[in-house]
Amino acid sequence: MNPKSEIPNPQSDESPIRNPQSPIGRIQNPKFVVFEGGEGSGKSTASLAVAHRLSAAGAVVVHTREPGGTRAGERVRELLHEDLTPWAELFAFLVARAQLVAEVIRPALTRGETVICDRFAPSTFAYQAHARGLDAEKVRAANAIATGGLEPDLVVYLDIDPEVGLRRKLGEAEAIRTGLEGLEFHRKVREGYLAQAAADPLRWRVIDATLPPEEVAALAWEAMTGD
Ligand code: TMP
Repeated sequence: MNPKSEIPNPQSDESPIRNPQSPIGRIQNPKFVVFEGGEGSGKSTASLAVAHRLSAAGAVVVHTREPGGTRAGERVRELLHEDLTPWAELFAFLVARAQLVAEVIRPALTRGETVICDRFAPSTFAYQAHARGLDAEKVRAANAIATGGLEPDLVVYLDIDPEVGLRRKLGEAEAIRTGLEGLEFHRKVREGYLAQAAADPLRWRVIDATLPPEEVAALAWEAMTGD
């Protein structure tokens, strides 16, 4: 069975049930898992591979992504082509997140399903706060409003030198044409991720994204299941 990518019958985000396990239980048996990484890190491929493997093992898995995962969220993705101010950009991501949490993530967790999300709040802390320079406390507060306080049980971070990642994503010709524009920004994004990982080592797993994709997926699987 394929991982579900859409959830029928959305429920309110007011549900008090999120993941009815103790904090330690949630770390050992994570139900809400977020994949993170800079451009070209391969997180979408790895998160899908793990979702398929879990679902083949009999788990009910919802795989989704940010921005996106809902109709409103996909429309926010279009909005990102506009020349938004940094705060406007932040709120665009938060519109997508608030809708995704209410429509997809909370209902699935309430049903006891496993949710794998390609990007979530750690992206905002790395890109908008650390790299773009928005006030971290304000970003944290705004994010908490959007998520209603929902946090991932596990963050799988695929770490890559942005120069390598951008070349991978753009292809060599495009990398030469653009001169890897924005490289400094992406270096800060990486710094922002590594700082979050260092501050929360129990919940974060850092994986070398230059390893072959099967190895990355195997390490992500191990982080989630302990196998
Ligand atoms: P993608 O490359 O995973 O499709 O993500 C789209 C872009 O959006 C990527 O450049 C990272 C950026 N982004 C943020 O800047 N902040 C966020 O909170 C999220 C979710 C994504």
